[in-house]
Amino acid sequence: MPVSRRQALQIGGVGIIGALGLAVPLSSVSAKSASLLDPRNMPRPYQQALTIPPVLRPKSTVIGADGKKTHLYHIEQTVGMASIVPGLKTPILGYNGSFPGPTIEVNQGERIKLEMDNVLPLFHPQWGYRLDTSTHLHGSASLPQFDGYANDITGRGMCKDYEYPNFQPARTLWYHDHAVHNTAQSVYSGLAGQYHLHDEVEQNLLPQGQFDVPLTISDAMFARSGELGYNDNTHSGLWGDVILVNGSPWPVMKVQRRIYRFRILNASISRSFRFQLGTGDPVTMVGTDGGLMPSAQQVTSWRQAGAERYEILIDFSKYPAGKRVELRNLSNKNNVDYDNTGRIMAFDVTGDPVDTSGPAARVMPTLLAGSTAMSLTPSQSVKTRQMRLKRDNDIWTIGGMTWDEVIKSGYKKVLADPNLNDVEIWEVENSSGGWFHPLHIHLVDFQILSRNGQPPFAFERGPKDVVYVGEGETVRLLMKFEHNRGRYMIHCHNLPHEDHDMMAQFSVGYNPNDSDPNDPIEAAKPHPIGQVPSTGGETTQPTESTGGTDGGSAQPTEAAAPVTTQPAAAVTAEPTVQKDVVAITTARHRLNKDITFAGTSKYTGTATGSSVVLYDVTPGRAAARIGTATINSLGNWSWTAKPGPSRQVTAVRADSSRGGTATATVRTS
Ligand code: C2O
Ligand code: CU
Repeated sequence: MPVSRRQALQIGGVGIIGALGLAVPLSSVSAKSASLLDPRNMPRPYQQALTIPPVLRPKSTVIGADGKKTHLYHIEQTVGMASIVPGLKTPILGYNGSFPGPTIEVNQGERIKLEMDNVLPLFHPQWGYRLDTSTHLHGSASLPQFDGYANDITGRGMCKDYEYPNFQPARTLWYHDHAVHNTAQSVYSGLAGQYHLHDEVEQNLLPQGQFDVPLTISDAMFARSGELGYNDNTHSGLWGDVILVNGSPWPVMKVQRRIYRFRILNASISRSFRFQLGTGDPVTMVGTDGGLMPSAQQVTSWRQAGAERYEILIDFSKYPAGKRVELRNLSNKNNVDYDNTGRIMAFDVTGDPVDTSGPAARVMPTLLAGSTAMSLTPSQSVKTRQMRLKRDNDIWTIGGMTWDEVIKSGYKKVLADPNLNDVEIWEVENSSGGWFHPLHIHLVDFQILSRNGQPPFAFERGPKDVVYVGEGETVRLLMKFEHNRGRYMIHCHNLPHEDHDMMAQFSVGYNPNDSDPNDPIEAAKPHPIGQVPSTGGETTQPTESTGGTDGGSAQPTEAAAPVTTQPAAAVTAEPTVQKDVVAITTARHRLNKDITFAGTSKYTGTATGSSVVLYDVTPGRAAARIGTATINSLGNWSWTAKPGPSRQVTAVRADSSRGGTATATVRTS
């Protein structure tokens, strides 16, 4: 098919398309190609071998005071050159320069601290936007300041230290860029990788090692030069004509005649798939986004939108050596399909000796594992909320909200505000026939109760964090807002929709008028690469700038208390630089009467505008900020309030903006 003027304009720049404002009505369109490659450079199915991304090794591992391991990882976000299409190189952005990024493997109960360096160019080499990044570990109940909040950005030359708790059950997660308004192009350029959380249940039930295979599937289009092309059809979606699995077009994998486990991640920024084996045989579905399903499901095809993860088992022992089993794509409504988007990859069954070590080599498991999300019942719900996914005046909205409104509110505006440990039902409606929306809710795993009043599909009867909200569909989701307090994003995972501007936030156990010790932007700021964070030696290194500016400013900082159910552990051997000696001389809280704290601060350097932030650190509940006291020129500070907090404070912590900290027991009479 000759290249249309529109396609010619699309490759190599979104600016032109955006300027022309070409709205593309979407129906199931099918065309020959989107790429502008010379035919000799155009990849063809089943010519390349499947590659498995390298597993990242930790830099070091430390055992904390609580006996738990913390692994320290280091990743550089950088430009790389990928060999994707024959005869040409493709510039990409990658974690450690690879496309997709390396896989991280971790056991339940072992923490990870990840130093994420931004050494990308200041501007995207092709699309010109500023390459600030934010990294989200999708599937992890991380604290808000480590959750990849869209405006918690790390600029060039900066490093952000992320912390991942890994206390949840085994699951397939993925880490990817989440920077405000540019997530689609940055993920499409390569900033995505898998992350496998293991636990004993899963290690005793499902294939491991070389029989546990990550498949990160995405689509792409290419310019004549081999560079990636980008066209999101006025923020409707990008539909590439080349299908990549772990970064290779339509690869082939040699398999032994036994059971394999595949962790399928749809990392496409817009395209959804409907997978089916070429033989028509069912696969055994064992895992969804949030880990193991209660019981295995036999499915002959399943639809999977961006960010959804499904773990399947395929038994190749039923095929003779020499048989090729294809993984195909039947597609779904409102994707744009091309000649070869109906193919994904192929498995070539070999006559090689069969390694039957490890679980489920020969026999499919049937009963798997329960989970919090799947054991919830609707009667536990204390609230039902409704929200619509909708296009309004060319802007995508969620529950009537956009991310720009959240920004303009100073990040205060929320779509929902459950209390910690509340169970709720969220009813999400997409009344349009023109597009589907994969809805992702951060922090939680949910159970899909129903879709248009019918039970969910067999393949989605497991814990989920993304739900396919198809055309004309209403889904009911049941979830518990547990683990952390604070603000978390909720958005469409068709990333051009997310960026423009189908994203909002909700808060858990948090009052927007209180200051937030887990502020997603202020509580753990990036620092210059190579510079040891000044409060090193703590699990969290939260800081707070006094201005309302985004990232990277050298404002005076205050340490904030971590709010977490995890005990703190020493994770590094870096020395703590104590610049200030704070003491608490008075601490009294008479319930319903008054609360008073006073103390001193001895400091040898010069500092202006210093203050002490006071935290309620009463045992048995999350730390919470209660007030700020100014340190006067004599080094004294005091703070009082009437009647004070409505819950008895029995322990207080004072953090000086000059660096010191002190705790004290509070008198209650
Ligand atoms: Cu996979 Cu908010 O993202
Ligand atoms: Cu959407």
